[in-house]
Amino acid sequence: MKLKKFGKTGSIVSELCLGTMTFGWQADEDTSHKILSHFSENGGNFIDTANVYSSGKSEEIIGKWLAERDRESFFVATKARFKTAEHANGVGLSRKHLHSAVRESLARLRTNYVDLLQLHAWDPLTPLEETFSTLNTMVEDGLIRYVGISNFRGWQFEKALQLCRQRGWHEPVSLQPHYNIIVRATEFELLPMAQAENIAVMPWSPLAGGILTGKYKNSFSKAPKGTRVGDSSSPEYYKRYENERTRKILDQVEKISAETGKTMAQVALNWVMSNPAVTAPIVGARSVEQLTDNLGATGWSLEKKHIEAINEASNLEVTYPYDRRSEEQQRAGRDLS
Ligand SMILES: NC(=O)c1ccc[n+]([C@@H]2O[C@H](COP(=O)([O-])OP(=O)(O)OC[C@H]3O[C@@H](n4cnc5c(N)ncnc54)[C@H](OP(=O)(O)O)[C@@H]3O)[C@@H](O)[C@H]2O)c1
Repeated sequence: MKLKKFGKTGSIVSELCLGTMTFGWQADEDTSHKILSHFSENGGNFIDTANVYSSGKSEEIIGKWLAERDRESFFVATKARFKTAEHANGVGLSRKHLHSAVRESLARLRTNYVDLLQLHAWDPLTPLEETFSTLNTMVEDGLIRYVGISNFRGWQFEKALQLCRQRGWHEPVSLQPHYNIIVRATEFELLPMAQAENIAVMPWSPLAGGILTGKYKNSFSKAPKGTRVGDSSSPEYYKRYENERTRKILDQVEKISAETGKTMAQVALNWVMSNPAVTAPIVGARSVEQLTDNLGATGWSLEKKHIEAINEASNLEVTYPYDRRSEEQQRAGRDLS
């Protein structure tokens, strides 16, 4: 695996990040440790978790594994925001909840700092000043190295960034958005914002929860039990993808897979990696076999014609104000000499 600069920071991460949402859920502790070891043996140093994954078990499993390794050689990212307790303050981005969430994450991860603390989502209740002054203090106190953001809209991220600049606080340096061949609206606002601000981008669900591996063919709403999609407690979440556009996408990815000799998962991941705004997709796996397949997305690049064919199959209607982009690009590229 190649190493990359983490956005505008001086830190270095692997070109794939290991997602650990399956740990303590679809992958037991032993399998999770094997996944971590396989990832690390193949050059991976970048691990993503969250305090709420498997109610904290994911962090515990990572912590146990990390305790027997050189902590400094890994870049560990976690998240805070969602509900950790039933009382009124057990959720959100308040100073009170952030402090208790981080204290608990550090204990489960068996470390005295995390490299990246990500806000898991926007909190309409807490003033941004309260959230970002708290995060600034956490960086200063050495509890976290960097601040990241997940699932914000473009204007929310930019507002946070400008606030930090005005106050001289540590700025958010990364974005974790939903992004894959099926979910492309991320390209309208979030990815251009990230590129303009030199923000590291780590897309989640790059395989659309497994749909892009092609294993459900064209009827993933009938996915078998024992799979992420088949076991989903909210089948509507995946059912919305069962349409003509997804069928076109799967046909195209399958065709390119046959032409290149790469698996559909590798093609789908390589397409995400081919976007210059992307730093490292977060790959999820329930087994070492799946991870091995996904690691095969590195070390090669899709040809331009393949990227264009996938873009065409997955094209989304571009509506106002994003339909102004081509005129803006033309103007930006104008020869004024
Ligand atoms: N910030 C957020 O809100 C947010 C949300 C979701 C995820 N995340 C992060 O992003 C990571 C990745 O998300 P994700 O797990 O949804 O990613 P994904 O790659 O879209 O889906 C992973 C799932 O697809 C299946 N799969 C993966 N590789 C496969 C392969 N090679 N062949 C066949 N099936 C394969 C597995 O499920 P089955 O075997 O059950 O089919 C696996 O659990 C998470 O671990 C987490 O760290 C963040």
